[in-house]
Amino acid sequence: MRTGLEGKTALVTGASRGIGKAIATAFAAEGANVVISSRKQEALDEVAKEITAAHPDARVLAKAAHVGRAEEAAACVDAAVAEFGGLDILVNNAGTNPYYGPMADIEPAAAAKTVEVNQFAVVQWTQLALKASLAERGGAVVNIASVGGMITEHGIGYYNATKAAVIHLTRQFAMELAPKVRVNCIAPGLVKTHLARALWEPHEAEISKHTPLGRLGEPEDIANAAVFLVGDTSSWMTGQTMVVDGGATIRASLA
Ligand SMILES: NC(=O)c1ccc[n+]([C@@H]2O[C@H](COP(=O)([O-])OP(=O)(O)OC[C@H]3O[C@@H](n4cnc5c(N)ncnc54)[C@H](OP(=O)(O)O)[C@@H]3O)[C@@H](O)[C@H]2O)c1
Repeated sequence: MRTGLEGKTALVTGASRGIGKAIATAFAAEGANVVISSRKQEALDEVAKEITAAHPDARVLAKAAHVGRAEEAAACVDAAVAEFGGLDILVNNAGTNPYYGPMADIEPAAAAKTVEVNQFAVVQWTQLALKASLAERGGAVVNIASVGGMITEHGIGYYNATKAAVIHLTRQFAMELAPKVRVNCIAPGLVKTHLARALWEPHEAEISKHTPLGRLGEPEDIANAAVFLVGDTSSWMTGQTMVVDGGATIRASLA
């Protein structure tokens, strides 16, 4: 079955590198117009060049915005509408983790930033996309959570709590917005990106050994799931969280 993404317009936050960049590139390969956003315009311009080099027919708009700042978010969505006439797809992917340590010791500023970027931005950008055109013409939203939102882990407990919230925001929005807008979520395991470098780089061989599919994730593993979840390929799915983790969360034992 074809994805049906040709001619659709997709906005991806946190698209200057890692998972967001892979998702935007995969959408462009499927014929979608892509709006890529993150805080740094220069990095986005580079990604836009790379996407159009790989897919010469792709239409790409690069527009910087801090996901937590309402005016910047609104300006980005407005720019997307001005360029492409509306939005069909939103991927809430930008994420941050400013604190590593026991949750009992997290400072209010770090906690507030984690909620602003990982959790409330999902609400804010979904509201903007709905107002822009999603509510009227329908579409699909995909939120990027984490397997950490389903389990406990040392060091990143507060980050994981915001990811648990994203899983529930997905269900709530899916219920409220059906049947016009489908809302689904991806919970990645450990993926080789900048954000998670301290977790995987020093331990890659060891973690791979304990992962049923024998390796860590690549951004493209998550992008493939995103293409499925925004495409006609998943037209009877909403409110769900797809775990993409190489089997890490179903391994038989910790040994
Ligand atoms: N890598 C993993 O193992 C893993 C596992 C589970 C879930 N995830 C989730 O996957 C998503 C993507 O992360 P990644 O691993 O691809 O990390 P990454 O390579 O570090 O990319 C993060 C992206 O988010 C952007 N960003 C960060 N803060 C932002 C802000 N305040 N406003 C706008 N953009 C912002 C970054 O660009 P700028 O810094 O230029 O703004 C960058 O484009 C995140 O939601 C993350 O929590 C990752």
